[in-house]
Amino acid sequence: MNIILIGFMGAGKSSVAQILSEKLHLQLIELDEIVLKKSGRKSINEIFARDGETAFRELEIEAAKSLQSLDNLIISSGGGIVHNKLILDYLKKDGTVIFLETPLTQIEKRLVGDKTRPLFQDKKKTKKLFNFRKKLYEEYADIIVSTGNKTQTEVAGEIIKLLCPK
Ligand code: S3P
Repeated sequence: MNIILIGFMGAGKSSVAQILSEKLHLQLIELDEIVLKKSGRKSINEIFARDGETAFRELEIEAAKSLQSLDNLIISSGGGIVHNKLILDYLKKDGTVIFLETPLTQIEKRLVGDKTRPLFQDKKKTKKLFNFRKKLYEEYADIIVSTGNKTQTEVAGEIIKLLCPK
């Protein structure tokens, strides 16, 4: 079985995935890293600027497809994967999807000054995107974990308790 973390940019997916990977001794996969490799570009910003968001989303689909037959992975996804049902279909095949639910106010504090995320540069657009995606994250999630005011270690601990109750 795989564990797939979904949620908005800055929800802590990568950090929590890293902790889960260490604690559960499972391989960590960053979907964005696969996308970047496939793109031949140097950064996510460069993919968006030169190839556009649609090309980025196509690469996300390819990346998810490349993982569909693999097992025992912790997959940290990009915040926008919920725009393509196909991606979730590939990842959900043999996986549990966990939505890290984080208030936007907290995300804004965490990502202040961030220049690496092309879709987090305009406050109004980001808020719209956040509200639009919230329903999608909820729809695709098998488990929802609220991360507000919790450390990433606490969030990972909560996930482990939910998945492997003693
Ligand atoms: C995106 C989120 C980013 C990255 C890209 C697009 C999005 O990943 O995939 O900038 O659409 O929300 P993180 O969620 O890890 O920041």
